Amino acid sequence: MEADRKQPDDPLNVVLIGFMGCGKSTLGPRLAEKLGFRFVDTDALVVRRAGRAIPAIFAEEGEAGFRRRETAVLDELLVGKGRLVIATGGGIVTVPDNVEKLKRLGCVIWLDTPEAVIWERVSRNHERPLLRTENPRETVRSLLEARRPLYRAAADIESDSGDLTPDEAAYGLAESVRLHFAGWRGPEN
Ligand code: S3P
Repeated sequence: MEADRKQPDDPLNVVLIGFMGCGKSTLGPRLAEKLGFRFVDTDALVVRRAGRAIPAIFAEEGEAGFRRRETAVLDELLVGKGRLVIATGGGIVTVPDNVEKLKRLGCVIWLDTPEAVIWERVSRNHERPLLRTENPRETVRSLLEARRPLYRAAADIESDSGDLTPDEAAYGLAESVRLHFAGWRGPEN
C-alpha cells in the first residue's frame, strides 16, 4: 500500500507533529474534544511503558533507546481502533520508518510554529535532554532547519496558527480534519 493513499480500513486518527514547543500538547486535547476523539501523547506513553522520565531514558539508553521506545508506541497505536488525537515527540520524524507509520495512523498535521515562538517557549523549560547543550538557542535553530523538510514531507495538513488562541486554532483544524477524512473515506462516513 502506498503510504500516502489511505484506505477505508486504516485507523482514523489525527496525528500532530512538529518541533518541541510548537503547541501539540496544548492544542491536542482541545482538538480531540471538538472531534469527539480521545487524546494521547506518545511521550507520555513512552514514560508510562518505561516507568521512567524522558531525561532518565536519554541518560541510560541514549537517544537511540528513546527512539526505539517511541517507535514501539507507534506500533502499538497502529493496532488500535483509531479515533485518537495523537501528539508526538518533536523528533519522531527523524526515524525514516516512523514517517510511513504516522501516515498510516491517519491525518497528519504539522504545527509549523515560528522559531522565535518556539524558543520563547522551550527556553522556559529545562526538561528536554536534546536542548541541554552549551548553546541551546543555536541547537534549536539547527535542529529546526534539519527537521522542517521532514515535517513537511510527513504532513497532510500544515498549520500556522499565527495569533489565534488554542481554541480558535483547534476549531479551524477540526474543520480541516473533517474535510480531509471526507476526501478519502467518502461522504457516507
Ligand atoms: C524530542 C522532543 C520531546 C521528547 C524528547 C525528544 C525531540 O517531545 O520526545 O525530549 O527530539 O524533539 P516534545 O516535542 O513534546 O517536546
